[in-house]
Amino acid sequence: MAVIIDEQRRIFTLHTQNSTYQMKADAQNVLLHTYYGEKTDNSDKSLLYYQTDRGFSGNPYEMGRIDRTYSMDSLLQEYSSFGTGDYRITSLKVENKDGSQAAELRYAGYRLHQGKYFIPGMPAVYAENGEAQTLMIRLADPYSGLKVELYYGILEETDIITRAVKITNQGTEDIVLKKAASMNLDWEYGEFEWISFYGRHGMELNFQRERIHHGIQAVGSVRGTSSHQYNPFAILCEKGADEKMGSCYGFSFVYSGEFLMEAEKDQIDRTRLICGIHPDNFSWTLHGGDTFWTPEVMMTHSGSGLGKVSRNFHKVIREHICRGGWKEKQRPVLINNWEATYFDFTGEKLVAIAKEAKKQGVELFVMDDGWYGKREDDSTGLGDWFPNEKKLGCTLKELAERITAEGMQFGIWLEPEGISEDSDLYRCHPDWAVAVPGRKPCLSRGELILDFSREDVQDYIIKRIAELLGGIPVTYVKWDCNRAICDKFSRMLDGSRQGEFSHRYVLGLYRVLEELTEKFPEILFEGCGGGGGRFDAGLLYYMPQIWGSDTTDAIERLSIQYGASFGYPVSVMGTHVSTVPNHQTGRVTPLATRGCMAMAGTFGYELDIGKLTQEEKTEIREQINLFKKHYNLIQHGDYYRISSPYEGTCTVWEIADPSGREVLISAVYHHVQANPVPVRVKVQGLKDEAGYQLFLNEDFNEKYPGKRLPFGFRPGEVISGAALRQFGFVVPEAVNGFQAWQIYMKECPYPCE
Ligand code: DGJ
Repeated sequence: MAVIIDEQRRIFTLHTQNSTYQMKADAQNVLLHTYYGEKTDNSDKSLLYYQTDRGFSGNPYEMGRIDRTYSMDSLLQEYSSFGTGDYRITSLKVENKDGSQAAELRYAGYRLHQGKYFIPGMPAVYAENGEAQTLMIRLADPYSGLKVELYYGILEETDIITRAVKITNQGTEDIVLKKAASMNLDWEYGEFEWISFYGRHGMELNFQRERIHHGIQAVGSVRGTSSHQYNPFAILCEKGADEKMGSCYGFSFVYSGEFLMEAEKDQIDRTRLICGIHPDNFSWTLHGGDTFWTPEVMMTHSGSGLGKVSRNFHKVIREHICRGGWKEKQRPVLINNWEATYFDFTGEKLVAIAKEAKKQGVELFVMDDGWYGKREDDSTGLGDWFPNEKKLGCTLKELAERITAEGMQFGIWLEPEGISEDSDLYRCHPDWAVAVPGRKPCLSRGELILDFSREDVQDYIIKRIAELLGGIPVTYVKWDCNRAICDKFSRMLDGSRQGEFSHRYVLGLYRVLEELTEKFPEILFEGCGGGGGRFDAGLLYYMPQIWGSDTTDAIERLSIQYGASFGYPVSVMGTHVSTVPNHQTGRVTPLATRGCMAMAGTFGYELDIGKLTQEEKTEIREQINLFKKHYNLIQHGDYYRISSPYEGTCTVWEIADPSGREVLISAVYHHVQANPVPVRVKVQGLKDEAGYQLFLNEDFNEKYPGKRLPFGFRPGEVISGAALRQFGFVVPEAVNGFQAWQIYMKECPYPCE
């Protein structure tokens, strides 16, 4: 049983395979948080709380006269509220009819059921009844009609606990939500560090680790999307925790809009973490009877380091967030024409790229931006989702059929949320673009954004895109969004409700995505936000992969994909091999290195293969074969970070089959030195007692049967899993700049006959 309830003492203990979470309704009906960490028993952890005089913090009225140790400002709470004695960051802030901001949340009951709750109109973890339990705890403000239901989804096997909050106004007077976070987590003690991921367009998901200090630390987005700048994923870990050791907590926000993740270390060294919709652009009016659902947060705890946090998220995203046929199905190796042509192409040119790619084993051709309306650069045409037949030299259907006749699948790029001022759609519906009436809106990449909070706009886009896709043999759609949102205003909302715009936009986007993905279940949708501007677990509910970054440079991708690996599996990371010198950095890297990097993702190409030498074409063919051979291992295996791109000379990662039968290790030299210090890798995920053969870069063993491998032994020699784990092996030295090695290990009979 995942959830144990002590009715008499009102203690709720949630167990997953390796963690325990506990809360308790105390004598004052405050729902206390009592424990989250390594798996333990059901005993009441609040007995171990330290309490002392908190008269200067303030005490609730009934307690102030009798027990000054009891203060909302120091209690560990499940869901804190602003304005009634808790001066820390809080999860809920309301405005009552009289203008006051007080809310006191008191325990009012619970409900437990099999299966996982779902959230209307929003993405959330899903699970079979046998895989999850839902606990709902009800809190209510005794002075108003405010009712707050805290939802917990417990996925025992996966070590994941989800949280979301349903807020209802049961009274008759309006209540305005000013802040409604999805979760609050309090720790009584501990020295913590927090890991977050920051960036910019083309350079997303940089890793940063800081000490939690007194005061407030926060990352978030007020950009309408989850953003290039901060990712809605963070880890809080005990000081010094590393990949294999230490207590670590991970938090992933299942949402594609504005968010805030904030942490505060308070006056008595207690730490609080809150995650939810960013309150800066938010307010939501609840009339009597109205309900508001917050988005969901996924949490996990690992007692054995950061690596396990990541593997837990990889599993839950692969199995309980991604949906549809493409969740399991092998995804095609694709070629995208963006970096090959940008806007400068014709139908003939595209067919030529597709044909050449097909010869090397590519399976899907993707036509990127520039095929519609009057789109010759990025300042025009967005919104006119009608093919430019003059440019293509034929109808879209004919083009798609020419490509499919070559034995290639056909995919198409769209940016349905964008609208150019120079477009027929804008000329017809200028009011559909987001802008504050009477003010000039901000342009971004030359474009405006459609007001997706409006139902008529959503309906139009669903209809137009459905008609477009319905008429052609298409199996892939890249859904791009190339700007952040400002000038937030919707003509469909009253002045008093403009604070609802950003969240309503995201709800509108989710409705459009739900309907289109349901209508076209055979299409593989790939998300994109000018690269990684919308790289979040919310989008993955609709699209099982997201283009990781507009930077395709293999060395820059090391840090982007390293950052992503903390919260997201390889199977969702859009990665392509592009040409050299790289278009974003001018750097020249070996084709093998670019291939190795792209294989740590969905894998594809973004260049004109026709312009390559025969040798390069052969290498591409070999890369595709190698990727397909190891497809299951790469996409479904357990991921281990061995060394980081921010240190040393070589970034190493490993993907191990959960059975321990095979492992693929990738090593990329991000820095080349003379007389280098050896890079030693201690292999994880192998079976100690089994024997393994090592293969270098696919063909080394076959090409040089008698030659010593750079690891020391000869092809065919076998070494034990224990030795590889305890002693490890040394990655071969780099023989050229930015060299990559792929080392495959396979179990074989041992000891050798
Ligand atoms: C941004 C994307 O990330 C690129 O891959 C490309 O699709 C361009 N948009 C097209 O405008």
